[in-house]
Amino acid sequence: MGIFKKEKSFDKLPTHIAIIMDGNGRWAKKRSLPRTAGHAAGSKTFKDIARYGNKIGLKYMTVYAFSTENWKRPQEEVNNIMNILRDYLRDAKNFKDENIKVKFIGDISVLDEDIKELIADAEKESENATGMHLNIALNYGGRDEIVHAVKKIMKSGVDPDSITEQTISENLYTAEMPDPDFIIRPSGEYRLSNYLIWQSAYAEYWFSDILWPDFKPKHLDMAIEDYQKRNRRYGGV
Ligand code: IPE
Ligand code: IPE
Ligand code: MG
Repeated sequence: MGIFKKEKSFDKLPTHIAIIMDGNGRWAKKRSLPRTAGHAAGSKTFKDIARYGNKIGLKYMTVYAFSTENWKRPQEEVNNIMNILRDYLRDAKNFKDENIKVKFIGDISVLDEDIKELIADAEKESENATGMHLNIALNYGGRDEIVHAVKKIMKSGVDPDSITEQTISENLYTAEMPDPDFIIRPSGEYRLSNYLIWQSAYAEYWFSDILWPDFKPKHLDMAIEDYQKRNRRYGGV
């Protein structure tokens, strides 16, 4: 279990942690297992880390589950990921019991009807939860999100000269959420892969070689400890 006690470090926790859940395929390959086994293991890690984040008193966690680019993968793998998502959503009652508020960000309009219904149910079931906000980025792409926001703004007939940064922020999927303070990417890749590109303008980053299925609460603790040593200046002195 992790080293943080809610009482001790609550005030120094990042408000919003975003995680790129990467490395499932390589985790499976190392074990001579099919990629699907990696996604199943990654799903378990996701549930454990979400629970742990809620337990230590994190306010917001946003996880990257499926990107707008991930449709390029073999159909079989896409189907497998969607089935894991179905299982998770059917089980989402557990999260309600844990007082976690679930929300999806991304273009879910193109997903299968049954998944859309499960998503609506999961969001509804947990809408009054007062614990951590757990955002799941699904068919999410940062550029796609900005295009979507621009269309919404244009359709509202707003005066172009009145558009501010806040106008853009308020029309993203993440409207009403604070920007992520801290972005964690395991798996040894040093890139954002189109994740929260507007919102991450002043985020801190933490990279690690750990593959997502191996990521444990103690690694979240390590990352948070590093975060707490950072000096955030936002352009000031
Ligand atoms: C992340 O793991 C899961 C998704 C993108 C859905 P990957 O499947 O990308 O794993 P690697 O990067 O191939 O190891
Ligand atoms: C980012 O991982 C997307 C998710 C974790 C859902 P990818 O594995 O798709 O990213 P790239 O292809 O390595 O940039
Ligand atoms: Mg990957």
